[in-house]
Amino acid sequence: MNGEEPLERALEQASQIVAAADYTVALVGAGISVESGIPPFRGPGGVWTKLGEPAMDGYQRFIADPTAWWTERLSGKDEFAEFLKTLDDAKPNAAHYALAEMERLGLLHHVITQNIDNLHQEAGGSEITEIHGNRLKLRCVACGARFPLREFNMEEIPPRCPDCRGVLKTDTVLFGEPIPQDALQSCDHHTRRCDCMLLVGTSATVYPAAEFPIIAARGGARLVEVNPHETPLSEICRAVLRGPAAEVLPRLVERLRPGADATGREEKP
Ligand code: APR
Repeated sequence: MNGEEPLERALEQASQIVAAADYTVALVGAGISVESGIPPFRGPGGVWTKLGEPAMDGYQRFIADPTAWWTERLSGKDEFAEFLKTLDDAKPNAAHYALAEMERLGLLHHVITQNIDNLHQEAGGSEITEIHGNRLKLRCVACGARFPLREFNMEEIPPRCPDCRGVLKTDTVLFGEPIPQDALQSCDHHTRRCDCMLLVGTSATVYPAAEFPIIAARGGARLVEVNPHETPLSEICRAVLRGPAAEVLPRLVERLRPGADATGREEKP
């Protein structure tokens, strides 16, 4: 028995769970963007595997001297420069498009992403909460307002908030920084409302995001995992799609498209 049969069975289980659900949320991690050329953080080829887990005082260092932080970031020589370059070059892959299609089909009601890469939006998704922020935005540390990065020519360092003149930082959440309240409240709302949660490409080891599936499951939601590797949550999932997201998510959508039969083929009239 090759790996195909268990995957076929798991796809069948997963499609029945999603089709029967009233409110499906996807919790997404770095794994979904691996096939877009962005490395994960942990495991083989992970950013932290290479650089070592980052210091937990990134935010405190920013607040202490935002001019120095921005000067280093804009020099393109900071420790994340190589990683940030992969984000610049990345394009959405079949997994991002599959989630966007599920949203259009009314089968996926919200995406909670831990990724800062903006690829869900570029794939056409709109119901999205970015718990760790978005690399293409700036956020004011005083009033919390967000602005598109492209609107700032970075002549003034640190850049200043057009509304309150507060200091602007990248919208991405730095280590040691509290998750912005609006994002946290949105995550909590959708987590408590869902009766199905897809766990796509996350190691489910970083909090608070790693707790959302637990809260959802306690509320009666059924969990479906999409990941080539085992995670701490695999054992509490009702279906596990063990493979790369860009391969297995489109196959799940095939089975859920109107008119598709149980194997995803177009139903004969
Ligand atoms: N498709 C699906 N999943 C994949 C793929 C793939 N092609 N390739 C790898 N994975 C899985 C790995 O097996 C792993 O479980 O994606 C997961 C990536 O885990 P992490 O690198 O830990 O990423 P994530 O869970 O998003 O990390 C959470 O940690 O460092 C912080 O801010 C960072 O948002 C990040 C958070």
